[in-house]
Amino acid sequence: MIEFVLEAMVDAVMMVDAEGRITLTNSGATHLSGYTREELCGLAISRLLVDESSGMRTVVRRRIEDGDVLRREESWLVSKKGERIPISITGSPVIDDRGTLQGIVLVARDVREMRQLLAEKEAEIRRRRALEDELRTAKSQIESQLDQTRTQLLLAERRATLGTLAGGVGHELRNIAQVQIAAVDELAAAISAGEDATSFARRILPELERVGDHIAEHGERLMQLARPGPDHVEPLDLNGVVRDVAAMLKLAGKLGRLAVQLALPDKPVTVTVNRTRIEQILVNLITNAVDAIGHEGRITVEVSPSVDERRIICSVRDTGAGIPESELDQIFEPFFTTKGDAGTGLGLTVVRDIVLSYGGRLDVRSVPGEGTTFTFDLPA
Ligand SMILES: Nc1ncnc2c1ncn2[C@@H]1O[C@H](COP(=O)(O)OP(=O)(O)O)[C@@H](O)[C@H]1O
Ligand SMILES: [Mg+2]
Repeated sequence: MIEFVLEAMVDAVMMVDAEGRITLTNSGATHLSGYTREELCGLAISRLLVDESSGMRTVVRRRIEDGDVLRREESWLVSKKGERIPISITGSPVIDDRGTLQGIVLVARDVREMRQLLAEKEAEIRRRRALEDELRTAKSQIESQLDQTRTQLLLAERRATLGTLAGGVGHELRNIAQVQIAAVDELAAAISAGEDATSFARRILPELERVGDHIAEHGERLMQLARPGPDHVEPLDLNGVVRDVAAMLKLAGKLGRLAVQLALPDKPVTVTVNRTRIEQILVNLITNAVDAIGHEGRITVEVSPSVDERRIICSVRDTGAGIPESELDQIFEPFFTTKGDAGTGLGLTVVRDIVLSYGGRLDVRSVPGEGTTFTFDLPA
């Protein structure tokens, strides 16, 4: 009866007596080992099983004597031809009525196929890991290139702002120079007409002096714009910066026929920032307002301290086209522009970066068809 059960099993089954000799096997065992049933019978199990690492033989003695069922996933069977076949093995004790160990039933399973599968899977995992590593490296390279590009673009954006302002300063310089030239012409005319040049000169000298100061100031400003230098911060009156930027944009022809209305407090409002950075914010917000208005409309720049006077709030308001609600989230993204080739999509990205870097906030409110207000604040 028991033989039928044994034959029905695909695994190799071997009964071993207390001396470690095989007493009973099935065809699974003959298949796996290459020995005939006759050869197996009486063979010392130690010839068949090698399990140096775990000491199967020791375990056979020790653990199984204690009545344990033993299970090992990694063991070896040495076939008749001397081939080492990986197996998983289970051993259970055969104990008689008096509790004496009569032998062990060993069930061994050929795990070559499973190992092969496992090895293939592991190789696949290694391949994937290598691939992931490659992807990670490529990604970080791309990211650092993007970073570089971003830095370059931001620099280009800054240069464009500075160029606009420099253009305005240049125009202002020319206007001032024209005042000077006119005064000098008048003086020359008075002299050649034999008029009292001295009293005329005395009258226009203070004006010429003022003009000279003005020219020196603007020359200085041009040099600053040409070489912005490191971002050093200094206490500035925001009112003054707003006035300057509005005037320079006008002179640089960036406002078209529009005028920027200023709503500034009487007292100076001091913020400790880098001048060029604040100019960059204002230039970007005001030129966006100009673009949104087209021909007719109003741009208002308002400055006011917060109620607790700890922050300075500045808003740029226009009566332009407004921003559709669906675009409100996107306008701060780099390269988002609705102006086609005329836009860079960097203006608001830059504005937000600068405001955040000073611990400020930037807010937008817009009603399509009515206009838009950008508001930022800075620590006072
Ligand atoms: N005041 C505004 N009114 C209406 N739309 C605006 C205003 N400011 C910005 N936008 C929208 O946000 C987009 C992004 O602005 P910006 O980052 O300055 O890039 P750019 O001006 O180069 O397009 C603009 O293309 C425009 O669609
Ligand atoms: Mg812009």
